[in-house]
Amino acid sequence: MKKRWWHDAVVYQIYCRSFCDSNGDGIGDLPGVLQKLPILRELGVNCIWFTPIYVSPQVDNGYDIADYRDIDPAYGTLEDFRQVLETAHSMGIRIIMDMVFNHSSDQCVWFREARKSRDNPYRNYYIWHNGKPDGSEPNNWGNYFYEGKGSAWEWDETTKQYYLHYYSKHMPDLNWEYEPLRQEVYDVMKFWVEKGVDGFRLDVFTSFKKPEGFPDYPGELGVNGYAQGREQRCNVPGIHELIHGMYENVFSKYDIMTVGEASRVSSRMAPDYVRAARQELDSIYHFEICNRNPAPPTVLQYKDAQIRWAKVVENGGWLAQHLSNHDFPRQVSRFGNDKEYRIPSAKLLATLTHTLPGTPYVYQGEEIGMTNVSFDRIEDYNDQYTVGQYHALMKAGVDEAAIWQKLRPVSRDNPRTPYQWSGGENAGFTTGTPWLKVNPRYPEINLEADRSHPQSIFAYYQKLIALRRDNPAIVDGTFHMFLPEHPQVVMYLRRTARQTLLIVANFSDNSAMVERPQEVTEHQWHRILTNRDDTTPSLMRESWLPWEAEIYELEG
Ligand code: GLC
Ligand code: CA
Repeated sequence: MKKRWWHDAVVYQIYCRSFCDSNGDGIGDLPGVLQKLPILRELGVNCIWFTPIYVSPQVDNGYDIADYRDIDPAYGTLEDFRQVLETAHSMGIRIIMDMVFNHSSDQCVWFREARKSRDNPYRNYYIWHNGKPDGSEPNNWGNYFYEGKGSAWEWDETTKQYYLHYYSKHMPDLNWEYEPLRQEVYDVMKFWVEKGVDGFRLDVFTSFKKPEGFPDYPGELGVNGYAQGREQRCNVPGIHELIHGMYENVFSKYDIMTVGEASRVSSRMAPDYVRAARQELDSIYHFEICNRNPAPPTVLQYKDAQIRWAKVVENGGWLAQHLSNHDFPRQVSRFGNDKEYRIPSAKLLATLTHTLPGTPYVYQGEEIGMTNVSFDRIEDYNDQYTVGQYHALMKAGVDEAAIWQKLRPVSRDNPRTPYQWSGGENAGFTTGTPWLKVNPRYPEINLEADRSHPQSIFAYYQKLIALRRDNPAIVDGTFHMFLPEHPQVVMYLRRTARQTLLIVANFSDNSAMVERPQEVTEHQWHRILTNRDDTTPSLMRESWLPWEAEIYELEG
């Protein structure tokens, strides 16, 4: 495989709204990011992914874009962006932008035009449909936010047709069948590449292509009587042609990286999106492990998934490694233990993410072990998905305690609370009132406290990121999982012709006995990293402590 810059990258995801507020309006902004770039350089990351910072009414915190070629005034100006980009570049940090092309905002000029009349030149940028003979919606699809009555279709009174919206009715879906829309999308991307950005994260790209004929979903309906049926609406035949079209018209012309948000993509389907020969995307991230299922995967499921996904890389594709982002619970709360083992479990999770095949992604706050929140009132929640489901379930008569139990641990507000910079007021995020409540654990968990602690998680991330630079096996090595049936321990090899690394992690609250494979016992190893400094650096030990993680290198 031809080596590209992003193979070596470590990506840091900035959720700008919650990162750092420079002017006291309670909303994070680009001057705030500029101020904090030196810390990211210290951390060692060399790429930033910005969640959408374009002009937006913020129905879905920026994933509803009203102007694809300008910065939202709450975040700053194009000039502020230019400064962030230039400063980041001078520090060796690249920047990739989030591109949302499944839908736009209903405030986007394209949609404001499109809804004026059936023959408006922008009409076909969107998906319009007549109702059924009785006037009801064209089919039984629900919107994913459980908004309003629940349908994915909204009636437009002026032009007497329905338009499609997979998410909010304020986020109408774009019509990828229409050539001028596709050209517009290419132009937007070229606009940003010409500003100097280094790549794109493609939002929900697997739903650009819509099912032919918009058929009713045959499966079970949701609490509100409409079908979620995501699997029917993702990866529809014809999707590959659309992605290849972006490759031909944009990606192939520049030295940029692309990473797709691969909803409902299995490890079997993935190579068709990311093998270089396909000429589609450079990489994707999947949701087999990081998701909102009621229970997190078991260690066995985790390993089974890693084994299968590693094959995607082995076969010439590439992956983003992540356990959390702005849509999912805090990783230490979901997969680790955010109480008595917060520090070692945060480090263990990072050890795995940073040594599996692919490019590691750090979601802001994870490097100091930020945790989930638990607010008491629905008014304190902002996430459309949480709020919509809460009301739909209440309306359906579900017990309120049960609703909270279901929603709290997976709410998208968990990862979106303001960054905890210090133990000061509002965790040092703002001098005003933060747009979303600060996590009450901030006096204990914040960057300042973490960095002054001998067990600093931040310092551990620095070491992991530095290791990646100096150990080619982490980037290029083959992958072999040992002990796939062990219910607690994750143990694998990364190997190139010159270097062999062994990663051992006790992914549990209990100590673990390990029967070491012969390949391990017949060689000499030395430890190059550990998340505990009170254990013997030896693979000959009988047992591993709860949440212990280590990396060894083969001697000789
Ligand atoms: C993606 C984004 C999410 C957003 C949705 C609709 O899943 O990550 O935040 O709500 O797409 O754009
Ligand atoms: Ca601000």
